[in-house]
Amino acid sequence: MTSTIDVGHAAYFAFRDRLLGDLRTTILTDEQLCEAGRLIYGDPNGLSLYGIAAPDMAAKRITLLGRTVIECSIDAYTAPVADALAQLQAGTEPEGPDPDNPLIVDLFCGSGNFGYHLGQRLTRPVHASELDPAVYGTTRNNLDRIGSAITLQLTDYRHLLGQLPARSTHDTYVVEPPWGPAFTADGLDLTRTSPPVPEILDDIRRSRDGLSCHIAIKTNDQIAHDSLTRSFAGVRYLRRITPEPCLPHGANMDFHLYELHA
Ligand SMILES: C[S@@+](CC[C@H](N)C(=O)[O-])C[C@H]1O[C@@H](n2cnc3c(N)ncnc32)[C@H](O)[C@@H]1O
Repeated sequence: MTSTIDVGHAAYFAFRDRLLGDLRTTILTDEQLCEAGRLIYGDPNGLSLYGIAAPDMAAKRITLLGRTVIECSIDAYTAPVADALAQLQAGTEPEGPDPDNPLIVDLFCGSGNFGYHLGQRLTRPVHASELDPAVYGTTRNNLDRIGSAITLQLTDYRHLLGQLPARSTHDTYVVEPPWGPAFTADGLDLTRTSPPVPEILDDIRRSRDGLSCHIAIKTNDQIAHDSLTRSFAGVRYLRRITPEPCLPHGANMDFHLYELHA
């Protein structure tokens, strides 16, 4: 017998395929945004970015592409991560050439909502890079609408890293590359994201001139081939933040904070 939950999940996976397929770079309608909130988070208001829930986005002229709706980290997830990071950083004295002026760098900006919450909570400027011109365009529009001071560039994350020398051991990098083929039936393989997470960590290390920093990363709740541990080998694990699951195992989100020694 097929349960109501199974039917709901089948609808989620079908909608997910559309958002990453034919609707990938299409601006979603109000109805589609609310439907995404309902199917992914169980409530239209669950899809909420920059403190604005899906039913209010049109009135505030917030626009989202299909891919970003699937890839984004919502308010309910990023705010607790920002709280956890603030707590960890409050407990350690920063060091470095500009210790009290740390960087927040959202390397794979997407909606920019992760950087937005870190910047708000830690009261620091945010630098962000986004490579897809369509995502950049909608995010640029949204950041302007909400009056955000995030400095967003249409560029590759390596270019942004090259512009931002290390300042403080409290510098924080958000690492959320697209999953693409890394998202498999066996779970998420972080060595197969594009680019692979170990490669991104090496790029960050190279930009740090020997100074440690903090890393925030999102995964799902089913990691394949021990790839999180393998990607972060030798990196200090700080904290895991696990939002209430809404979807079947493998489709829910987890967040992890690390201290990367260069
Ligand atoms: C998983 S999404 C990020 C989601 C984001 N954290 C949010 O909350 O909306 C990954 C984003 O990285 C962008 N991207 C992919 N490769 C990139 C690169 N080399 N440099 C910068 N951005 C890149 C993609 O276009 C996509 O928008």
